[in-house]
Amino acid sequence: MTIIVTGGAGFIGSNFIFHMLKKYPGYRIVCLDKLTYAGNLSTLKGVMDNPNFRFVKLDICDREGVYKLFEEEHPDIVVNFAAESHVDRSIEDPSIFLQTNIIGTSVLMDACRKYGIKRYHQVSTDEVYGDLPLDRPDLFFTEETPLHTSSPYSSSKASADLLVLAYHRTYGLPVTISRCSNNYGPYHFPEKLIPLMIINALADKLLPVYGTGENVRDWLYVEDHCKAIDLIIHKGREGEVYNVGGHNEMRNIDIVKLICKQLDKPESLITFVADRKGHDMRYAIDPTKIHNELGWLPETKFADGIKKTIQWYLDNKDWWQEIISGDYQNYYKRMYGDRK
Ligand code: NAD
Ligand code: DAU
Repeated sequence: MTIIVTGGAGFIGSNFIFHMLKKYPGYRIVCLDKLTYAGNLSTLKGVMDNPNFRFVKLDICDREGVYKLFEEEHPDIVVNFAAESHVDRSIEDPSIFLQTNIIGTSVLMDACRKYGIKRYHQVSTDEVYGDLPLDRPDLFFTEETPLHTSSPYSSSKASADLLVLAYHRTYGLPVTISRCSNNYGPYHFPEKLIPLMIINALADKLLPVYGTGENVRDWLYVEDHCKAIDLIIHKGREGEVYNVGGHNEMRNIDIVKLICKQLDKPESLITFVADRKGHDMRYAIDPTKIHNELGWLPETKFADGIKKTIQWYLDNKDWWQEIISGDYQNYYKRMYGDRK
């Protein structure tokens, strides 16, 4: 079995590669990644020497390069994690989001059609459903919830989902889609809420909470997401969408306070800054379908997962210090410099 994992030098893709190489010693895993600002080869250093692993630096929009890789590797399965993934960056400039997230997805699927494939899996997001109101805790996103996006990022992901379903219906491509809630865990790029707050708190820097901090996200430990994708590519039904989430809703402000507490830092570091434009209020996944059909359940409780994650950032300072010493500084100044 050969699996091409795109975006495998990023947060979730790398965790997926580690999971697959460990669980299936007979599988060949080929990581295709452009190494954008979010992709990091040092993340993969522990598997680079594994004879069942190959890394290829490539853009998923590069049709010729992608076709050549398919000719070389004859993949059985493609799992597409490659994406521009940060909402704030999409608000700053949508164009690369449309290119990678939509056009890149179509190039990968064209290669799957041309060379044949057992399964194309699209890693999507709960953000395609838009948001839920705070005063309706009874509402959840199901696979039937209409797509209703807020940001250029989520719109590009929803567009890709529609293309994936169109390739299934029109060309019979054997596809599946997973729509997961917010992940956290090792190798999470420090522009995202949890790692940003951990790293800032460690340096006694201000902790910038958007708006009132009441927005709710539904957090899932990254390993649980990887296990869900593993199940879907092996046992999920073709043409189906599976929501992935663990009923773990938390307000942003409570996450940041928890991080302060765990690191023994004062809450006075918290500073409320201008809200994100179009900021989604609440995400909440109903995972009944993947539970009933595939038996998936999250295994890591948030209380344990956040402790493990904080410990990982304490134990792996080299990994994130390297990142924040580079262009990240310019990003941080642009995004937070005069944000009031
Ligand atoms: P990430 O930003 O950490 O990693 C993205 C990876 O894709 C990087 O390694 C980057 O170099 C690579 N990449 C970007 N453009 C590329 C291109 N044109 N060609 C090849 N590689 C390219 O993202 P992540 O948080 O690991 O998210 C992975 C996927 O999961 C994304 O599709 C995202 O939409 C989805 N998702 C993320 C979350 C979350 O909480 N992080 C939740 C649900 C779904
Ligand atoms: O729900 C899945 C999505 O989760 C994925 O599709 C995205 O790729 C991923 O980035 C994530 O999107 P969010 O926008 O929810 O994640 P982010 O970590 O950027 O923000 C989480 C919440 O915290 C959100 O309400 C905005 C807020 N926030 C974020 C940052 C970076 C702050 O208050 N301050 C910050 O500095």
